[in-house]
Amino acid sequence: MIVDREALIQSAREAYQRAYVPYSHFPVGAALLTEDGEIVTGCNVENASYPLGMCAERTAIGNAVSQGAGKVVAVAIAAPKAQPCAPCGACRQVLYEFNPDMLVILDAGHAEPVVLPLTELLPLGFNNVALEQA
Ligand code: THU
Repeated sequence: MIVDREALIQSAREAYQRAYVPYSHFPVGAALLTEDGEIVTGCNVENASYPLGMCAERTAIGNAVSQGAGKVVAVAIAAPKAQPCAPCGACRQVLYEFNPDMLVILDAGHAEPVVLPLTELLPLGFNNVALEQA
C-alpha cells in the first residue's frame, strides 16, 4: 500500500491543534492510516491529575478501535515544539499491538520527516505470542 506521507503529516498537524494541554503546553497530534485507506487522528488530552493525561498516539488508537477501523499501516506524529517528536515507550507498545511492522513517520517541520518501521523503535515488543506460551 502506498503511504501518502505528506497527507498523513498534515492530518497529524491538524490534530495537534485540538490538543488539550493546559499543563505541559506541549501539543502532539497523531494520524493513523488504516489498511482501508482511512485516516484516524488523535491529540494529547491532559488532566489536572497529571498521570491521567493521554498521549496523542493512544488517543488515536482508541479512536480507530472505537470506529471499527482495520489494521494500522502507518502513523504520523507531529508536535510543533519538537521536530521530530519520538513516541514515548508506552505508545510504542500500544502501537505495536496493532501492527509491529507499521511505518512511523515523524514530522520534522521544514526538514525531511524521519521514517522508520516500528520494530526499529521497539525491538522485541511484547505480544500475544508470549501470552499463548503461558
Ligand atoms: N506526548 C504525546 O502525546 N505523545 C508523545 O509521543 C510524547 C508525549 C504528550 C504527553 C503530554 O501531554 C505532553 O506530550 C508532554 O509530555
